[in-house]
Amino acid sequence: MSDTHDLGSASGRENELATPWGTVILERYPFDAREKLRAWDAADEYLLNTLIEHLPQWIPDNARILVFNDQFGALGISLRKFLPVAMNAWQGEIVSVSDSWIANAGSIENQKRNGLDAETSCSPLELPEGPFDLLLYKLPKNLAYFEDMLQRFRVLLKPGAMVIGAAMVKYLPASVQPMLTAKIGSTSASLAWKKARVLVSQCDTQQPGHSGPAIASYSLPEYELVLRSFSNVFSRQQLDIGTRLFLPVIPQLQHSALSGEPPVIVDLACGNGVVGLVAARRNPTARLILTDESAMAIASAKENFMAYFPEREVSFMQTDALRGVEKASADWVLCNPPFHEQNAVGDHIATRMFRQAKDVLKPGGRFLIVGNRHLGYHLKLKRLFGNVHVEASNQKFVVLCSVKH
Ligand SMILES: C[S@@+](CC[C@H](N)C(=O)[O-])C[C@H]1O[C@@H](n2cnc3c(N)ncnc32)[C@H](O)[C@@H]1O
Repeated sequence: MSDTHDLGSASGRENELATPWGTVILERYPFDAREKLRAWDAADEYLLNTLIEHLPQWIPDNARILVFNDQFGALGISLRKFLPVAMNAWQGEIVSVSDSWIANAGSIENQKRNGLDAETSCSPLELPEGPFDLLLYKLPKNLAYFEDMLQRFRVLLKPGAMVIGAAMVKYLPASVQPMLTAKIGSTSASLAWKKARVLVSQCDTQQPGHSGPAIASYSLPEYELVLRSFSNVFSRQQLDIGTRLFLPVIPQLQHSALSGEPPVIVDLACGNGVVGLVAARRNPTARLILTDESAMAIASAKENFMAYFPEREVSFMQTDALRGVEKASADWVLCNPPFHEQNAVGDHIATRMFRQAKDVLKPGGRFLIVGNRHLGYHLKLKRLFGNVHVEASNQKFVVLCSVKH
């Protein structure tokens, strides 16, 4: 495909997933030639190898297959590329479901790298119509989310459908197998291979599934708010302790420092929107922009805003950090940065967010963040903005502010 070159691909690093059928090129998103992490892991390989051993028994000719929580397309792309060859003009359908904008964007670029037409994943809140013959999944870290989705997938699966998942052993708690047995049906776990396991279930439980998504909530009487969240939202049952230190520091602005117009406040990585809601209450004329890469987070934030500020001018963007937000447009960017993304832990995501925050701030605009003390965010901010000061702190967290000059 001609856009392979434009999309970028690695040199001197492994970006080819070798399956028994052939090779798939996979990069993480956003593409970075210096990136050391691969876009797949041994659990993806183990799942694909197990499927191949069970062809055509598990995947009939015209099977409809659901793929849940695929990371950058390792599963979906391999199946779309090779099933029609391996099974002699296979005529089935593959539908992917993912909460993550990043995983979806990575998968779209990887589909193009592999010469496929790019198909977008469905949101976990807008599932396709059933019935499906097979559900494949990469186990998500958040087990409440997994349980919620199993109950909702259950009603989309044919009786007797196979449900095959994989996880690295370090991300596979003992509670997963009983959960699968209760929600789907009899489940067995494979032996470990390269520190990964495959879980094989058959849809034979008599338990009914659920068609609506699970919602958790907590109340914040001091801010007169009740926050509702879908299952894959950060800190959905109680206010995060870093956010608790952050909320009182959220500023009250009369006007934009520059233009005298109503201020523009961005809640970057908004989760259920708690930071944006407190900013909206404290700044009745402000225009708000809320971003998060999770579909469930954006949907929760939208519902929470509709409950308290149905008339306010608010933009909700499911995106990577501040991608799509106009440069030099914001008076304040508020953020409790994430510490992991697609199972990759580290401060690279926060660093990306800091750079983008500087870009979207007006000159004179301010970036306010909360972080764990040990992460050393003050050094990064000082380097980037040339200034940083402490707005609040306790033993574990610190709220830092930098001004864009
Ligand atoms: C620590 S939580 C903060 C949530 C909320 N602001 C709060 O304080 O409760 C970080 C959020 O970052 C989101 N996130 C992770 N990676 C992201 C990315 N690349 N772009 C945008 N949001 C991201 C997660 O979905 C999560 O909602």
